[in-house]
Amino acid sequence: MTKQIGVGIVGTQFMGRAHSNAYMDVSHFFDLPAVPIMRAACDNVAANLKPFCRQFGWASQETSWEDLVARDDIDLIDICTSNAVHMPITVAAAKAGKHVICEKPVAMNADEARVMLDAARKAGVRHMAAFNYRRVPAIALARAMIDEGKIGKVFHFNAVYYQDWLVDPEFPYVWRHDKKVAGSGAHGDMNAHIVDLARFLVGEIDAVCGAEEIFIKERKRTDGSGMGQVTADDALFSLARFREGALGSFMATRFASGRKNFLRFELFGSEGSLSFNLERLNELQYYSRREPGPEQGFRTILATESDHPYISKWWPPGHIIGWEHTFIHEIADLMTSIATGQEVEPNFYDGLRNQQVLDAMQRAAAQKSWVDIPTE
Ligand SMILES: NC(=O)c1ccc[n+]([C@@H]2O[C@H](COP(=O)([O-])OP(=O)(O)OC[C@H]3O[C@@H](n4cnc5c(N)ncnc54)[C@H](O)[C@@H]3O)[C@@H](O)[C@H]2O)c1
Repeated sequence: MTKQIGVGIVGTQFMGRAHSNAYMDVSHFFDLPAVPIMRAACDNVAANLKPFCRQFGWASQETSWEDLVARDDIDLIDICTSNAVHMPITVAAAKAGKHVICEKPVAMNADEARVMLDAARKAGVRHMAAFNYRRVPAIALARAMIDEGKIGKVFHFNAVYYQDWLVDPEFPYVWRHDKKVAGSGAHGDMNAHIVDLARFLVGEIDAVCGAEEIFIKERKRTDGSGMGQVTADDALFSLARFREGALGSFMATRFASGRKNFLRFELFGSEGSLSFNLERLNELQYYSRREPGPEQGFRTILATESDHPYISKWWPPGHIIGWEHTFIHEIADLMTSIATGQEVEPNFYDGLRNQQVLDAMQRAAAQKSWVDIPTE
């Protein structure tokens, strides 16, 4: 018997749209033991709600997340807001016995992330941290290849996440510039993703150092109230030592002219290497040391074969998929987790571990020294 999961979403803009699209599509393509019912959308900007509900088919509207969480017809709360309210919404939802999926970075800092994990565990609800890039088929394939020993012992994981939308000094002041609302800037937004991929592909990180910068210190407010002080970083880079001995590097910046959403990692091991670029997300580059000869070199795997992760639900080989599919995969796995009661990953434990690394990177940048990551 297919369960029906009443969903309430908080936040109606960028991620609200990406998640809504996933709820609309998921049960058309995945045969699931539970299906989402799009019961209510919530935003504290009331004007956002009507067009959002009409376009995506949400059945009702709320302007207070407290009211949404209190509703009996909601089983799952989906948090797509700015970062400062992730923790209070999660805690209230868990206390009310609702499952929770929360966008990344899951919290403002590790203390908040721990409160979220504890609340979800205590309530016995399912919890998911929305690090959607784990569910790019080429990245899930990379993980499977590492697990099969094709890469051997990992020596290096180097990742960059480049965007360029802040190079323009006329770009206005938004919530992402305010440390009190965002927690951090490019760091929590973009390093959060590549740190999660590092943990997913290589394992835990033991220690980090780094540096951060705010290149443009103030920006014009759109409401005509003058200039806003930028307090969240424009860029942060970091070096890392992994527990299993690998060395890593991470760079997140919104000042990489020409790079729009360029997430690239390279991973070098004793048996081979992998390389991935989000702007070509169907492709995985693979080099094997086990095939010596004149033709040896990096090859491109087009991760669209039916035996590649998630692809059997979509199209024949070569019919590429896109960025929005990663959210559909995420929701498919969350629905299965809710129906079966099995933990889903990444969850709020991964959110906490991620946040501990992010916090340590900021601390290391501030004190200009290496900082250890807590072991738990
Ligand atoms: N997974 C990804 O690839 C990805 C990409 C972008 C953003 N994000 C994350 O998603 C989250 C949202 O980012 P976004 O780009 O959609 O932001 P956004 O500014 O486009 O939208 C945020 C929405 O939350 C609403 N909101 C804020 N506070 C609220 C409150 N107290 N009650 C009700 N609604 C409230 C806003 O009105 C707005 O509709 C952030 O945590 C961000 O880091 C993730």
